[in-house]
Amino acid sequence: MVEEKEITVKIRKYSKANGESWQSYKVKVDRYTQMTEVLRRIKTEQDPSLSYRAACHMAVCGSCSMIINGEPRLACKTLALDIADEKNEVTLQPMGYFETERDLIPDIDEFYDRMHRVKPRLYADDEVLKGDFEPRMTPEDQKEVWKFAQCIWCGLCVSACPSVRIDENFLGPAAHAKGYRFLADSRDTIRDERINILMDSAWRCTSCYMCYEVCPRDIEPVIAIKKTKAYVNDFKKDTPVTVMAKKHDDAVSESIAETGKIKESSLYLKTFGITEAMRDMKYMFEEGKLKYAFSKDNNVKRIDEIKKIMEE
Ligand code: SF4
Ligand code: SF4
Ligand code: FES
Repeated sequence: MVEEKEITVKIRKYSKANGESWQSYKVKVDRYTQMTEVLRRIKTEQDPSLSYRAACHMAVCGSCSMIINGEPRLACKTLALDIADEKNEVTLQPMGYFETERDLIPDIDEFYDRMHRVKPRLYADDEVLKGDFEPRMTPEDQKEVWKFAQCIWCGLCVSACPSVRIDENFLGPAAHAKGYRFLADSRDTIRDERINILMDSAWRCTSCYMCYEVCPRDIEPVIAIKKTKAYVNDFKKDTPVTVMAKKHDDAVSESIAETGKIKESSLYLKTFGITEAMRDMKYMFEEGKLKYAFSKDNNVKRIDEIKKIMEE
């Protein structure tokens, strides 16, 4: 017999007519009970009005994203007793960033819009579409895109991303993971168009790694963004962001070739220019951080070997 425990589930309920309120429910669970099962029991046994999404119950459909005890998670991939706090309580809130439709259901139209902006499908060659030719990926090519193809469109990374909140021109982590999945696909025919769609946006990511932390499928969208940035010299329609990006890219290469490492202070100066650097130095002075801009930074030993690698 598997031992059962009673937990208290506090749910933020919301409807357009009644606004927001918190409601508590007692549920008996054991160590195998998923949070989607907890929600099912509450809805069928206690509160038929409770609204939430869940379909597969196995981390495949991406529909049960929500905030569970403060963490962005899939409810079906979360066991009630693993997440319950010391008081045996679990709080459930809808995913952050998105508007709430009702209770735990976010309005994810905006998320789908972002995903579709990156043309999330393979654009194959005409000969392939006619059935005259079958392109094969090498195992190495397939390995490059495999991870990013596993996205289940759950939206958790977007809900946790700070750049999405402040920059409407940033496509967001999931769209970038999907965009890179096709950019790196050797069978795709719209490479230049993809670079045009993705490049300016990629350089708006702040590399905070929140998307990496919260993704339930370990997609690592920030890595897709970093890989996309590496195509910057193939991007011909420069924007203010990508002009800066190219300067940054050149400055990184120069810094490694000259010193064997990335010297942040010279990197900043070469990327943003003297006027911007002076403005930020004033800010650093006010915050007591100016000393870091002038901290001594030794070159690495055996620099010749690094120069040789850079030439290669
Ligand atoms: S690493 Fe970039 S995409 Fe990921 S959460 Fe941070 S800003 Fe957003
Ligand atoms: S990248 Fe991960 S967190 Fe983001 S939508 Fe895809 S599966 Fe969800
Ligand atoms: S119910 Fe499908 S991912 Fe959770």
